[in-house]
Order: sequence, then C-alpha cells, then structure tokens
Amino acid sequence: MVQENRLHTSDFIAPLFIVEGKQVKEPIPSMPGQFRFSLDTLQEEIKQLTDLGIQAVLLFVKVDAAQKDETGSEAVNANGLMQRAIKTIKDVAPQILIMTDVALDSYSSVGHDGIVDNGKVINDETNEQLGKMALSHAKAGADMVAPSDMMDGRVAHIRLVLDDANFTDCGIMSYAAKYASAFYGPFRDALGSAPVDQQDIPTDKKTYQMDPANSQEAVKECLLDEAEGADILMIKPGLPYLDIINDVSYQTQLPIAVYQVSGEYAMLKAAAEKGWLDHDAVMLEQLIAFKRAGAKMIATYFAKDAAKILS
Ligand code: PBG
Repeated sequence: MVQENRLHTSDFIAPLFIVEGKQVKEPIPSMPGQFRFSLDTLQEEIKQLTDLGIQAVLLFVKVDAAQKDETGSEAVNANGLMQRAIKTIKDVAPQILIMTDVALDSYSSVGHDGIVDNGKVINDETNEQLGKMALSHAKAGADMVAPSDMMDGRVAHIRLVLDDANFTDCGIMSYAAKYASAFYGPFRDALGSAPVDQQDIPTDKKTYQMDPANSQEAVKECLLDEAEGADILMIKPGLPYLDIINDVSYQTQLPIAVYQVSGEYAMLKAAAEKGWLDHDAVMLEQLIAFKRAGAKMIATYFAKDAAKILS
C-alpha cells in the first residue's frame, strides 16, 4: 500500500525495426532478442505484443542504400516501407497505438536527421521535409508521430501541417530533450543509419542533439515543445538522464515519456549473458526507476520481457 510507483504493461512502448522482404526475422547482433521484421513477420510480432497486453509501438524502418539520398526523399513516399508498415499493423491490430519515428536519418545518404548543406544540417529546410513526412504517416494511419530529429521549431511546423490537412487527431510525441549520446550505437547498427565518414559531413549530431553536460537547456527544450503543441514530451536516453526526467516533471503538465535506448539494453543483455547481473531483477529495477523519476511511459526494448513477468 505504501509503494509509490508501480509498473504496468500499459506503460510500455515497444520499438520495432522493419525491413523489406518476405519471412525476414533477422537478429540484431548488438541487441540480443531484437529483430528486423519484414511486413509478414511483423504481423506475428504485433499479435504477440497485443497478447501480452502491450498497447503501443514505435516504428523504425531500415531503408535500402539505393533509396537513400541527401534530402531523404523516400521518407515522404506514400507507398514507402513505413507507410505500408502502418497500414499492415492497423489491419491486424486496429487497437494498438502506432507511433512513428520522424527524422531523416534512415533515409539520408549521409546518415543525418536533417538535410546537410555545405557541412551543416540546415534547420528550416529540414522542417519542411519533416512536415511532409509526418503528414504521410498520418495519412497511412499513424496515431502519433514522434519527431526525433531535434530541429528547432519542428513541432510547431508539424502541428500546422497536420491540422491544415485535417489530421487534428494525430498526436505528437516529441523527443524534446534528446542528447548527443554514445548509447545509440546498437540502434545505428540495426538501421545502418550512422553518419557517414566523408568530407563536409558532420561526424556527429552535436549541432542538433543536446550536450550531456546540460540540464537547464533540457527544461527549455521541453517547454518550447510544449508551447509548440507537443502532446507527450520524451527524454532520451533513460538511465543516465533520470535527473532530467525529474527536473522536467516539475515544469510541465504534459505526460513525460522516457526512451531506454539501444545501448542501455545492450549493456544489460551483455552483463546478464556473462552471468554478472540478474537480468530480470536489474531490468525491473531500471524500469521502476523511470517511473520514480517522473516518466509516465517507457519506450523500451525490454517491453516483452517485462510484460511476461508482470503478467
Ligand atoms: C533517429 C533516432 C535514433 C534513435 C531513435 N531515433 C538515433 C540517433 O539519433 O542517432 C536511437 C534509439 C536507440 O538507440 O535505441 N533520429
């Protein structure tokens, strides 16, 4: 009775990686237990998630190199992989909340979340493209778009574009405070989306993602996104940034989501494989820590593992 926080399966958002092909369920080596799914195997996975009581998914696509270009034009293809994945999931499980990643990195020939020009990621031109991308997801049936790009002003722009097209019910979960973190390594392996090592291309995302040394700026970023029309604010990564979740939770009335990212997942899986940590106990301790810090929902690759225990 005196326990202040509890974990529920309904807290979890399950991230999913999707690829072209048939009967593909490709293990991701740096993320044991995670796979790249083709649209047919994705249907089976969605069924498993809903049977476990998981209510939300966050979609990412791995795009063939041949379809990548400097402006990420494939991102707005109405018949692209993401757009087809959304329809596939709506067909098999209309009740599940579909959230989609909005950023150009999986579609960019240079591996950046925005359009690169003369060695710089150009903010406003990127926002134009992100608005079109978000709209194409909404048209395909996405319930919420999740801009993870960290451009300035993109939440306001996406909200405007969605409203103008009468998608007033499509929500926005903004990655409001997303740090330039080294914990994203396994994710970039999974999607082949790391910035390329090439002249005139920034080698990191530090001009748009946040400095891990900053916390005041995180609060500012969150309040800006709230003012621009975000429905959920996300903090990312998770465990190293619990203080940020807590700081922001006192400053906003919006629900806060946390993203326990790929590197955090990989660390525990690796330590548990070696027998150095008790996998399930550490997993549940980490997940409850997010709730204690102030997060209402948790995007986590442990969603299935944790749901099995909680049920
Ligand atoms: C793309 C994006 C990234 C993640 C989510 N969306 C990678 C990045 O910004 O480089 C990372 C998620 C993870 O590590 O699990 N903008």
